[in-house]
Amino acid sequence: MIKVNAIRLGVLGLVGSIGLLFSLSVLANSASPNSANQAAVAMPDGYSAHVAKQVLLQGGNAVDAAVAAGFVLAVTYPEAGNLGGGGFMTLFTPTLSNAKNHTPQTSETLPVHFLDYREKAPKAAFRDLYLDQSKNVIPYRSLVGYQASGVPGTVMGLWQAHQRFGSLPWKQLLQPAIELAEQGFTVSKELEGTAQWYQNWIANKSSTPLNFSDYFGDLKTGETFKQPLLAKTLTRIANQGVDDFYQGTTAKQLVEHMQKHDGLITLADMHAYEAKWRVPVVGQWQNRTVVSAPPPSSGGVAIVQLLKMKQQLQSQFDQALIKAQKEGVPEQAMKAHFYAELEKRVYADRAHFLGDPDFVTVPVNELISDDYLTKRSQSVLMDEISDSETMRHGKIETPETTHFSIMDANGNAVSNTYTLNMPFGSGVVIPEAGFLMNNEMDDFSTKPGVANVFGVVGGKANEVAPEKRMLSSMSPTIVLKDNVVEMVVGTPGGSTIITSVFQTIVNVVDEGMSAQQAVDAPRVHHQLLPKDQIAYNPELPAETKTALELMGYNLKKNNYMGDVQLILNQAELSAASDVRGRGVSEVFSVP
Ligand code: DON
Repeated sequence: MIKVNAIRLGVLGLVGSIGLLFSLSVLANSASPNSANQAAVAMPDGYSAHVAKQVLLQGGNAVDAAVAAGFVLAVTYPEAGNLGGGGFMTLFTPTLSNAKNHTPQTSETLPVHFLDYREKAPKAAFRDLYLDQSKNVIPYRSLVGYQASGVPGTVMGLWQAHQRFGSLPWKQLLQPAIELAEQGFTVSKELEGTAQWYQNWIANKSSTPLNFSDYFGDLKTGETFKQPLLAKTLTRIANQGVDDFYQGTTAKQLVEHMQKHDGLITLADMHAYEAKWRVPVVGQWQNRTVVSAPPPSSGGVAIVQLLKMKQQLQSQFDQALIKAQKEGVPEQAMKAHFYAELEKRVYADRAHFLGDPDFVTVPVNELISDDYLTKRSQSVLMDEISDSETMRHGKIETPETTHFSIMDANGNAVSNTYTLNMPFGSGVVIPEAGFLMNNEMDDFSTKPGVANVFGVVGGKANEVAPEKRMLSSMSPTIVLKDNVVEMVVGTPGGSTIITSVFQTIVNVVDEGMSAQQAVDAPRVHHQLLPKDQIAYNPELPAETKTALELMGYNLKKNNYMGDVQLILNQAELSAASDVRGRGVSEVFSVP
């Protein structure tokens, strides 16, 4: 029997014409999503889950559902769902027709695609934008206020995905978001909590006054929150498409507000913005094809590196584990150490090689090649910690984010991660338009060796430059087995995205966990710096912690470690939303 994942469905409380609680039922048998017309959604909240499901039931495909959900989340998940941010979409489209006049950019023969709608630095940006005269980083300038925003890409991204693969009318797909903005939605306790925290966090961090609190300062759990200005903006986008956002009324509202303060974004920036179809990272691993995010994300490269190095070292690890267990070291501690060793090397490569491929040459194929990784994994130590200070990138011989996963009944899949960067972005709302701007400029390396808000460093490859895209960790991923979707997976979490996606895939394939077990399992994270620090969530058993501390690690409990949304197609189709978030997932039949 298909297991319906009905967790946290109680959060639904839609109003007006969208307002219906949907009941879930246990559905019919099937081994493949195609044979019983089954589809699945794994979404970060109940509103987006409901709307994505309705679009699929109305005959829309996975891309239609993604477009509708993308706009809904801009209303109901304002921490990360957005119009003023950007993101990435990984697609598998075995039955979708490629739209009109499109030059295909697929990876060899597989119908896999990647859409980069990441924000771009404004034309006025330059390398030392966030440094003072003494070349010191100006605190919070890249994070809070008007100069923290890149040129937003979300509206263009959803538009281009729809132009290429959509089947239902654009206007119809925006209608649920418009209604939720007009009629309101019920504020969750998570949303109220994050908004309160953010309001306190931004206080006194900007040299110019912020208007965040005017719009989001009074969110109360259980109350209906209406956004009439955002509804008008969405209506314009529904009627005029991207032209409104990048050239029309919304563009003018955005630029006027930016220019009134000390913002950088101009109309020329908005006109020039383009989303790009890129070739995804494709790695072969354990008889599977892992399809994930290429630069300007570091995610796909890093995840394939982690998976392959783990596989290369598995038997060595198994032997070390037997020995360690005889000495009383728990398996969980050994695994955390093993992953930390792999991650150290991967984050050193990230800091050196990764950046916007339109500006720097990123040796993607070399970095994920078996030969390179065999050399790289040779230095992994099973019984002690490799030195962080001397950890360098490898040698190449030649030269509050949110994620959703959708699979339609024809086996097409969308894995989408998009973001404002931190929850609620820069704290700037475009007045009249009613949406938040991102603080993605902080994902650039503002100064070589100086960590960003997620504690990761970078160098030349990721320095600020006009019209450049900042390096990302976002990793919307699709795993194929025998050219059929096995997993659609991704998560928010800044630099922990990479290790969360890695561990979720490994939990399924190597540990044999169910979808729900795989996303809920404790996760550990190491990113080279801070030195020998392993972050974890949720709490680890005392014996695991003691063993790791004896090895020499500093342990840090992260309050936040992602919100994985996973669809899994094994003997049965299943879907799971991370216990850490307010997500809702469901498997259902499309008549
Ligand atoms: O692109 C990145 O890697 C970050 N801007 C993502 C931010 C994020 O995941 C925040 N989520 N909690």
